[in-house]
Amino acid sequence: MIPASEFIWSHKNPYPSTPISTTTSAFLLIFFGRWTYRRVQQALGEKDPMRTSRQIFLFITLCILLFPAWRKKDYVHFHPIDMLLYDAKLHHDRYLETVGDTVSLGETVARYRQRYNRNPPPDFDVWFEYAKNRSALIVDEFDQIYDDLLPFQAIPPADLRRRTWEMVSNPWNEISGITIRSGEAKVQENVLPTHRWMLEGVAVLINSFAQYLPDMDLAFNLNDESRVAVPYEQIQHLRRQSLSQDMSGSASWSADRAAGWLPIPEHEYRESVFRENSWRNSFRMFGSAGCPPSSLARNSPQISSHSHLCGACVAPHSLGQFLANWTDAADICHQPDMAHLHGFYLSPAAFKASHQLMPVFSQSKPHGYNDILYPSAWNYMDKVVYKPVPPSGTPGAEDANPGFPDPPFSAKKNVLFWRGATSEGVSSESTAWRGMTRQRLVHMSNNLTTHPHDKVTILLPNPADHTKYKYQTLPGPAVKQLGLATDIAIVDFIARCGGHDCDDQKAEFALLPPSDFQAHWGFKYLFDLDGAGFSGRFLPFLQSHSLPFKTALFREWYDSRLTAWLHFVPQDGRLHGMWSTLAYFAGVDGTMWGQKIWWKGHDAEGEMIAEAGREWAGKVLRKEDMECYFFRLLLEWGRLTDDRRDELGFVVP
Ligand SMILES: *[C@@H]1O[C@H](CO)[C@@H](O)[C@H](O)[C@H]1NC(C)=O
Repeated sequence: MIPASEFIWSHKNPYPSTPISTTTSAFLLIFFGRWTYRRVQQALGEKDPMRTSRQIFLFITLCILLFPAWRKKDYVHFHPIDMLLYDAKLHHDRYLETVGDTVSLGETVARYRQRYNRNPPPDFDVWFEYAKNRSALIVDEFDQIYDDLLPFQAIPPADLRRRTWEMVSNPWNEISGITIRSGEAKVQENVLPTHRWMLEGVAVLINSFAQYLPDMDLAFNLNDESRVAVPYEQIQHLRRQSLSQDMSGSASWSADRAAGWLPIPEHEYRESVFRENSWRNSFRMFGSAGCPPSSLARNSPQISSHSHLCGACVAPHSLGQFLANWTDAADICHQPDMAHLHGFYLSPAAFKASHQLMPVFSQSKPHGYNDILYPSAWNYMDKVVYKPVPPSGTPGAEDANPGFPDPPFSAKKNVLFWRGATSEGVSSESTAWRGMTRQRLVHMSNNLTTHPHDKVTILLPNPADHTKYKYQTLPGPAVKQLGLATDIAIVDFIARCGGHDCDDQKAEFALLPPSDFQAHWGFKYLFDLDGAGFSGRFLPFLQSHSLPFKTALFREWYDSRLTAWLHFVPQDGRLHGMWSTLAYFAGVDGTMWGQKIWWKGHDAEGEMIAEAGREWAGKVLRKEDMECYFFRLLLEWGRLTDDRRDELGFVVP
């Protein structure tokens, strides 16, 4: 009776749809269970501990409770995206109230004290001026820095410096250092040559404000994959300990800070707290380590199927088929199925991880990792850049070329576009590639839509009644018949594979030659996915007039600044809502079961999000904003590593 009741209750929503026969069977099972129980009791001659009238009352109550779930409708009156767009506006307006302003230093300091319950770090006034001169819009809300650094407060400053030294002294760690002395940031000598450009980019970024920084060293993760996953019990303990520390003095930096940082040893240091964990599933050991023991991720038996939608895993952050809360969707603790749905968990290419809290600066991280986020040099140094090329014949055009312009939204192709490599993780004789998001996206768009035996579920207007929407399960080719267009492909060759996994992927995916990055702007919808870590393309996508669809396990420093459904279109990593989302924006025009079906695309909404994202990115995701974020982060890091940190702080004179 209990599993049957649970089943009905958990399937009370229109999506994922369950056939009425299944819920009816579950309902009958409840009756059958009840009946059997009575018979067994009667046969044993036992007297019921509960009075019959009370039993019947309880049973009827249960039935009444479950009845609506059983008789659930498979249609909805409002399109979930309409609601989500509305919610997103409200959320962004609430967010705007928390960002503060640069009107008065005194008030900003007071708000800092209120928010973080301590004084700002020394030289906060310099930071404030810096931010003001760069017209920073966000002055108060730096919760990411606070959250990232909080647990380190439980570790003594000398220990933090020692750990930094340990990490950068052993090249095997793939962690390299930047040293800041007398207001200048320099890359340490022993950096791997392949990663020199990256650290040099970081040094350029730091040097835009390094003159205001005290002496310190920093340890940077050279890999895309994150590094530090402290188990839940320990990290909770550290956070509690940190909260009891008071950092509200008013002194400035200690003199002679440089002496506190050891130089790189002449002979290689061999110890390491990191463990090699590449090429194998890392979810149990690291991915879910930061989750509470009671959570699904730590509790449920390993879900090893990547072809079945786990309803309980998506429900907490979804509205029907759509991703409803971008923040909650990052929380891995209710999503044990992600262990088999992302390359980083399935089989990371370069993954040396630690359970001990180490101060590593990384460009991105999934939920539960304890790396310290910093703005990536990838974007700061323009490794990928939004730079449309005007066609020849227009002013500014170089020579005779068709160009790669960025036309207004309505003039773009009504197509969802993606190009990329199979770089999310390594698949070597393991079939891991079948679960990786990138491969699943390509498979979904190109292979599923050609086989009549494959099924897709799309939310479409109810043909009989145009005020309602209905989840329709259709054969794969229906997607094309409805006029939903995608241009999604892997380019060049199959990367990061071994053995038959290379051939299998070659047989599965039609490879295309690489295209110019600026060709993206010809399309209305651009898909954005993680690679081995974060996606470097997302900022250019935002800056364009196109509309980015984004799914991301890896989150960056600016995650809280953006609002999903207002600045971009969020997608669940399982991709089950992709067709419905595309149908909403692009519209449908085709036939279904011999019936003509036409649904006007939501072009205005699409353009609104594309433009809002572009405008907002131009305000809070500029290079100046990366500088302000990093500057503030390093003032906090400077205080954390100062022997007198409890006495340090800034107060308005
Ligand atoms: C997402 O959920 C959290 C609570 O888990 C809430 O604080 C936040 O406002 C929600 N975000 C949106 C966009 O609704």
